[in-house]
Amino acid sequence: MTASSITTPVVLVTGALAGIGRATALAFAREGARLVVSGRNPEAGDALAAELRTLGADALFLRADVRSETEVRSLVDQTVERFGRLDAAVNNAGTEGQPGPVVEQTAESYAATFDTNVLGVLLSMKHELRVMQAQGAGSIVNVSSAYGKIGAAGASVYVASKHAVEGLTKSAALEVATTGIRVNAVAPGPIETGMLDRFTGGEAGKAWMTEQVPAKRLGHVDEIAAAIVFVAIGKAMYMTGQSISVDGGVTA
Ligand SMILES: NC(=O)c1ccc[n+]([C@@H]2O[C@H](COP(=O)([O-])OP(=O)(O)OC[C@H]3O[C@@H](n4cnc5c(N)ncnc54)[C@H](OP(=O)(O)O)[C@@H]3O)[C@@H](O)[C@H]2O)c1
Repeated sequence: MTASSITTPVVLVTGALAGIGRATALAFAREGARLVVSGRNPEAGDALAAELRTLGADALFLRADVRSETEVRSLVDQTVERFGRLDAAVNNAGTEGQPGPVVEQTAESYAATFDTNVLGVLLSMKHELRVMQAQGAGSIVNVSSAYGKIGAAGASVYVASKHAVEGLTKSAALEVATTGIRVNAVAPGPIETGMLDRFTGGEAGKAWMTEQVPAKRLGHVDEIAAAIVFVAIGKAMYMTGQSISVDGGVTA
């Protein structure tokens, strides 16, 4: 059985309570998926699960900080306890960390970014693959970035973390390529979310960022969600180890 042949796939989304993750959860619900939405704020999580149920989706919030292996293991185990399987996982939880020039970085600012963006993706894939390998099927989408492909002055640690996500994606895909499991990434350009607001520091920064995009506009969360759904459970069954840029031409 493949993820696309299941009419109501079970999908896990990390960092689902805001921005791209929230839009992705809503997009999967519209596709008829059964959903586990995960994040760190139970009040917002329960509200999102209720909203997804109004769309007809069987949805559940589970609290997990992706930096903790205990919490990630429990998240995946509880997903399987509730729904019996895990067809697709979107490892979206991420942070902009503490941007600034290399000469201002510290072990602490490095960890503030890498613990979520890299360790979080590694731990998530480890436990998702444990279940998917037992099933002999599954699909993982890691949320990377245009900054996983190019450099950016003032964002070295974030850039490095997203390059690491690209490397984890390709390597995991190769490890499971014969098992019926696909592992891919979606790499957004600048998308209108709370993260972009914090990263750019306000309207002037956002205007500068927009000017750098060949399409001369910022992306919308639904444009990323649509790509994630396509790669995760659409008809992309021969696609693995790839990173799909959805970035208005930034990396062209
Ligand atoms: N927006 C962009 O321009 C852009 C561009 C390229 C890539 N991305 C990537 O897209 C993904 C989503 O970003 P976004 O723009 O939607 O950002 P966002 O609005 O800040 O949402 C990020 C979500 O991740 C959660 N999160 C952060 N650290 C976590 C942790 N340790 N454990 C569990 N959840 C955690 C946040 O929850 P809390 O509220 O609890 O922190 C939040 O719900 C990230 O991986 C980001 O790097 C974004």
